[in-house]
Amino acid sequence: MKEIVLSGIRSTGNLHLGNYFGALRNFIKMQDENLCYFFIADLHSLTTHPDPVNFHENVKTVLAEYLASGLDPEKSVIFVQSSVPEVSELYTLMNMLAYVGELERTASFKEKVRKHPNNVNAGLLTYPVLMAADILIHRANKVPVGKDQEQHLEMTRVFARRFNNMYNVEFFPEPAAYNFGTELIKIPGLDGSGKMGKSEGNGIYLADDEKTIRKKVMRAVTDSGPAVPGAPMSEPVKNLFVILETVSDADTVSFFKDRYDAGEIRYGDLKKQLADDICKITLPIRERILEIRNNEKYLSETVRYGVAKARESAAATLAGVKEIMGFKSFY
Ligand code: TRP
Repeated sequence: MKEIVLSGIRSTGNLHLGNYFGALRNFIKMQDENLCYFFIADLHSLTTHPDPVNFHENVKTVLAEYLASGLDPEKSVIFVQSSVPEVSELYTLMNMLAYVGELERTASFKEKVRKHPNNVNAGLLTYPVLMAADILIHRANKVPVGKDQEQHLEMTRVFARRFNNMYNVEFFPEPAAYNFGTELIKIPGLDGSGKMGKSEGNGIYLADDEKTIRKKVMRAVTDSGPAVPGAPMSEPVKNLFVILETVSDADTVSFFKDRYDAGEIRYGDLKKQLADDICKITLPIRERILEIRNNEKYLSETVRYGVAKARESAAATLAGVKEIMGFKSFY
């Protein structure tokens, strides 16, 4: 039997090259091997970004970006979290099983309290419960998570186990992390340090136009040039080569490596090549993003199709949970 894989996508934050060559590539592969649920986590975004003016637009934009990048509504169940009210109902029920103490000890919560002491809302405290409801409502077996979400997944396992023990059932499977193996490519940023996307302005977005991409790449941090042939590469230049290796063909990479080793590289040429090859990959995706984003009919049909499938699975789980907990219908 196919495994059930589930992933929530933040509704704020646009897709960049790092996402594209990292998680997204694996999502595309996952779709063929499993039954995948992908959803836009719009309820979660309310814990930090209440913004009624742009709320719906953000969801549509993120959806369009993921669809344009290869998430396939025929293979996977693609939906919006808030359109599946069963999630909110399970969240209410799961809140009765979560202890305030363990929620207060969650690393992400403590960080939020530290950074935004004036917005410590209860939704922030119970963020892991809502995430657990997302996962458990489809009784998912696997969840692809980055480092920052590992603790939330561990808490989901705790809640699942606690429910099973409390009611003496084997109802919820304990979801494991989806392991991508060693092939996860990490794209560095253009600012000379770290990962793409962490800080503003160090990333290339899939929706960027050609002019923006060229400007960003030409402004990327380098160094004052290879002083002596064979000198070790500085971090910022190494980063540009990592991106080049991802977007360009092998001949191009070895051409620039040779120039570097000979102490004759011109970073302007390297950047121009890099910009050309990034554009070759991202501009067709940008076209598709715009096309999908402007096709209201396609977007609404796609979401409706996904939501119907998601609600079917969610309703079955919720009915099971309520029966186990002792709810009985009056009518
Ligand atoms: N918290 C996740 C993030 O910030 C998004 C998310 C919400 C999620 N619900 C989920 C991820 C369920 C995996 C499974 O990235």
